[in-house]
Amino acid sequence: MYKKFFIQTFGCQMNEHDSEVMAGLLEERFYVPTKDIKEADFILLNTCCIREKAESKVLSMLGSLKKIKEKKPSLIVGVCGCMIQQKNIVPKILHACPFVNLMFGTNNMNRLPEYLEKIEKNGQPIYEIVDEDSSAELQLPASREYPFKAFVNIMYGCNNFCTYCIVPYVRGRERSRKREDIVAEVRRLVEDGVVEVMLLGQNVDSYGNDFAEPISFASLLKEIDDIPGIERIRFMTSHPKDFSLELIDVIKNSKHICHSLHLPVQSGSNEVLRRMNRKYTREHYLEIVQAMREAIPDVALTTDIIVGFPGETEEQFQETVDLVETVGFDNAFSFIYSKRPGTAAEKFEDQIPLDIKKERLQRLNDVLSKWSLHHNKKYEGQNVKVLVEGLSENNDNMVSGRTDTGKTVIFQGDPSLIGKFVDVNITTAQTWVLKGKLEEEI
Ligand code: SAH
Ligand code: SF4
Ligand code: F3S
Repeated sequence: MYKKFFIQTFGCQMNEHDSEVMAGLLEERFYVPTKDIKEADFILLNTCCIREKAESKVLSMLGSLKKIKEKKPSLIVGVCGCMIQQKNIVPKILHACPFVNLMFGTNNMNRLPEYLEKIEKNGQPIYEIVDEDSSAELQLPASREYPFKAFVNIMYGCNNFCTYCIVPYVRGRERSRKREDIVAEVRRLVEDGVVEVMLLGQNVDSYGNDFAEPISFASLLKEIDDIPGIERIRFMTSHPKDFSLELIDVIKNSKHICHSLHLPVQSGSNEVLRRMNRKYTREHYLEIVQAMREAIPDVALTTDIIVGFPGETEEQFQETVDLVETVGFDNAFSFIYSKRPGTAAEKFEDQIPLDIKKERLQRLNDVLSKWSLHHNKKYEGQNVKVLVEGLSENNDNMVSGRTDTGKTVIFQGDPSLIGKFVDVNITTAQTWVLKGKLEEEI
């Protein structure tokens, strides 16, 4: 008899991919996915703790599960992911939600089927967090959300200890997957109908540094670019301190690496960057941007920015605005600094009051959207190649897809186009999307 599971993912792409892997493990063990949470026999929350807000979302969803659990005592409620990897979190969650009967961290998610089997047998809850990790060695199945595009982990963990960031504490040190394993996985995916891969790592530019004979991310990309049948290669995230000029050459000379680069800058002030422990300067960042644009003129540049880092003065914030005006990003994720337990910046003086952080974010977002619209306007009247990803959220007669540069394009079309490349004529550019008319299937 099949049982039903429901997974809710709260975090980044890596977290999403972990959810796909856990879904894959469950489907091997007589579980089927359901979209209706009330039907589920097993509900799993795959959590994120990058900012306080991410954690409150998890806690509020857990609160709402209480009623479902009361009505259905056999329901197994699990919590996993980055939040669980934090010190002393299990008693905290149990205090608020004693009905949770399974908790495990990011390092032992491969044991999920075994945990479930035990709980089903004897009803005893399991809370297990392990520090060491073997995921770089494991080849786990994944139940992918899309048949035509896929996430591929190339490395786990992070060594950088940016002073605001909790990731190194919950994801451990950098571990690169073997080059042969990655290449074999991409080959398998392509045989399976995948045309686009997103290579994942917290700092992909340091891929291979942990090998006895280091190899570069650029050389890995080159090898993947040569796999027959692959159409689009994306990667994230790059770090300006490790981003190499060799990589620019590889992208320029490649056939399938997308013309988009997500390069988080975090701040435009050298003093703030120093206190963030980012290990590059504003000038170095601008040099990369210039080299990228010279080599690949149509590249779309996106970034992450934090406002209100402890001690950030109005002048230092203005330096960030100035950098945004200088680069003119295509798009950016902007965040209000959030204090994270155990990080160095938690203890920094001069934490910025929330009202000032909010006001800075608003001013920054105004500049960011101006640039986003500016770049999108350049597409008006042009024909672009789009990989159709799905139905548009608001209108079933419309489909939505992406350009090579990562822009979202919406146009009239039917579901048969999903997973195909099409040519679209852009008629209207908006701040966050391009709207267009289908020209032809490619
Ligand atoms: N490894 C990637 C991304 C890490 S998390 C990188 O180094 O860029 C994604 C983004 O969340 C970061 O780029 C940063 O902008 C933001 N972030 C991380 N910690 C944060 C915190 N404590 N408060 C606010 N934003 C944060
Ligand atoms: Fe966090 Fe910095 Fe590592 Fe990115 S590079 S995950 S921001 S510590
Ligand atoms: Fe990702 Fe959040 Fe963990 S951003 S690595 S899921 S803390």
